[in-house]
Amino acid sequence: MARKIETKCLHLEEEEGSINNYGAISYPIYQTATYAHAGVGKSTGFDYSRLQNPTKEHLEKIVASLENGTDALALSSGMAAITLLMEIFKPGDHLIVDSDLYGGSIRLFDNVSKKNGLKFTSIDCYKEDVESYITEDTKAVYIETPTNPMMNVTDIEELSKITKKHGILLIVDNTFLSPYFQNPLDLGADVVLHSGTKFLGGHNDTLAGFIVTNKDDISEKLRFLIKTTGAGLAPFDSWLILRGIKTLGIRMEKAQANAIKIADWLVEQDGVTEVIYPGLTSHPGHEIMKKQSRGFGSMLTFKLESKEFALAILEKIRMIKYAESLGGVETLITYPTTQTHADVPKEIREKNGITENTLRMSVGIEDVDDLIEELDKVFKEIGEELHGRKKS
Ligand SMILES: Cc1ncc(COP(=O)(O)O)c(C=O)c1O
Repeated sequence: MARKIETKCLHLEEEEGSINNYGAISYPIYQTATYAHAGVGKSTGFDYSRLQNPTKEHLEKIVASLENGTDALALSSGMAAITLLMEIFKPGDHLIVDSDLYGGSIRLFDNVSKKNGLKFTSIDCYKEDVESYITEDTKAVYIETPTNPMMNVTDIEELSKITKKHGILLIVDNTFLSPYFQNPLDLGADVVLHSGTKFLGGHNDTLAGFIVTNKDDISEKLRFLIKTTGAGLAPFDSWLILRGIKTLGIRMEKAQANAIKIADWLVEQDGVTEVIYPGLTSHPGHEIMKKQSRGFGSMLTFKLESKEFALAILEKIRMIKYAESLGGVETLITYPTTQTHADVPKEIREKNGITENTLRMSVGIEDVDDLIEELDKVFKEIGEELHGRKKS
């Protein structure tokens, strides 16, 4: 019987059966740049840590196993992973990309990849006819699902039928759900990306990124690129992410349970005009998520009646932190307009619905009553300040 994901977070089947590393239960940190050879033509399997390091390799095998891929590469950040992936394309290649994406990905495409000769068409992959945008130069479709921050949900399997028909790649940034809740390769994607900084690491303490694939030719290209460009994850950071992954399952479950309660609470609040969380039955992607994912995650976006209301929340929260990033044990609220999506051109931001009234919340694993108590206090204060509105 295939092992379940919570077991795979802890144990690498292929390394079982023998006691290595003195029986250390925590995989050792091989803090070494280079490796001695016993003789000419002899190698321990490791030559130089830019090429590979045992701690990083162990992490990569765990992540490949979690995503049901044949290979995973660990990089120094999510952006390093996306940047490396763009190197498999050549000048003139065309990519169809979701219009709502993490702002840093859009910044990379607009400012670096275009300069390197790649061409992009930005569309709403969850609702537009993707096939009609494919040209003879198109090499890939690149999506997030749910998207950051508007939580648009694309049917991965349906989209993969189109990409397979045209012999092009489907790339899915799976950061928002992590492999615990969604495995895009199983649904027909060719490449999965992660900002490992988020749920995989899970503690708001380490930057990391991953590229996972089940295609040998892509893996071969990426292995050449990582050793050549040198953005592999450091041994200590690899170990921190390994440690984070051990608790991925319980963190994801707890954060999601909290997010569901907070989404339900937000829906009832004066001053909140929209709650965008795929776990709500009102979300247009709810049924697709039920089909393709094992959960809805713990990211939610909500809109306030005014910019003043949104900014006042950021000013007043204390235990909940006003900060960029997501996927850690601590609850964070982000202001996409000036933080994660500040470099996205204003007209695109607005077209995507990222207004100045929009906040994004990454729900953590605190006691949910404490989270709601803080939000309730903050909302009441703002209601009184803005409207003299009193709630019992
Ligand atoms: C969906 C998504 N992809 C990629 C990234 C980039 O990852 P990193 O910050 O680790 O470079 C982020 C960062 O927020 C993200 O939210």
